[in-house]
Amino acid sequence: MSKLTDSFGRQISYLRLAVTDRCNLRCQYCMPAHGIDIVDRKELLTFKEMYRITRVLSELGVNKVRLTGGEPFVRKGFVDFLEMLDFNDLLDEINITTNGVLISKHIEKIEQLKVKSINLSIDSLKKDKFAEITRRDVFDDVYETLEILEKSSINLKLNIVVQSGINTDEIIDFVELTKHKNIAVRFIEEMPFNGVGQKEVKEVWNYNRIIKEIEDNYKTLTKLVDGKSSTSRNFKIDNYTGTFGIIPAFTRTICDDCNRIRITSTGMFKNCLFDDGVFNIRDFIREGASNDDLKKMFLSIVAKKPKDGFVAEKQRKSNVSESMSTIGG
Ligand code: 5AD
Ligand code: SF4
Repeated sequence: MSKLTDSFGRQISYLRLAVTDRCNLRCQYCMPAHGIDIVDRKELLTFKEMYRITRVLSELGVNKVRLTGGEPFVRKGFVDFLEMLDFNDLLDEINITTNGVLISKHIEKIEQLKVKSINLSIDSLKKDKFAEITRRDVFDDVYETLEILEKSSINLKLNIVVQSGINTDEIIDFVELTKHKNIAVRFIEEMPFNGVGQKEVKEVWNYNRIIKEIEDNYKTLTKLVDGKSSTSRNFKIDNYTGTFGIIPAFTRTICDDCNRIRITSTGMFKNCLFDDGVFNIRDFIREGASNDDLKKMFLSIVAKKPKDGFVAEKQRKSNVSESMSTIGG
């Protein structure tokens, strides 16, 4: 059977699927205080459509799916969808990105599924700062989720968007969390996917600046071997339990072995985080496309995957400014 391969020989094996564009938080770097224009419910892919799309992609070589949003647990029936997706025998891993507010009561059930890892967004360890960033007072719930997940059989990764002048003073506190906790802390470069566009900052906190901050504080830093197609460059402080990494989301030094594609909650197919959507699968399905039609379509669009995030950005019709909540993180 044909596999999804692009013109640079990269095999696509990882789908990031946004199950909703809605979110119960209002993170400053993701959306304005009043939120973003959410779409009409009928414009969202149904869970049945998502199951079908994922099945077809898995027959073309996708063996790993990350479910994102918005916030996936905001969508009614999400946990039932997880159980449904678990039946797809061609999937080795289902991962989830969540803000952790609504998930604690579902963790036991999720542990029984092929959910290998959960990425929990937590941008501050201080209650007040957390509320300022997310514009919601839910730090205690998120931290409780962190502790439950750390003790569970699911691998826990923390996502920290490094925001100049806001939480850079906590980089070391986050690294210190890895001393006794078996977690992977990941610092993400901030991107202009926020509903507004590029912001002015006093100091640029990119990969180099973040790693310098950590190197200045520790003498015993070991570089780890990164897995193939890893989105982060990973490290460990000697004798610490967990690890930490940096995701060069904006400087884009991870594109060479990219194995990822995205589908937004409205069924827009994206070859790259930085492209502005190349094909609407929802409309194609609702017009009656067969699974074979879908396969042909996927093979032909993936063949055109841009070399990297810079090329993808250049090909856009408008500047990068849409919210990550619409794209899927
Ligand atoms: N820059 C970097 N990361 C972002 N995320 C959301 N918006 C941005 C942005 N502008 C991250 C969130 C979450 C994931 C879904 O995407 O922190 O971890
Ligand atoms: Fe919601 Fe995630 Fe955006 Fe925060 S970053 S508003 S948790 S979608």
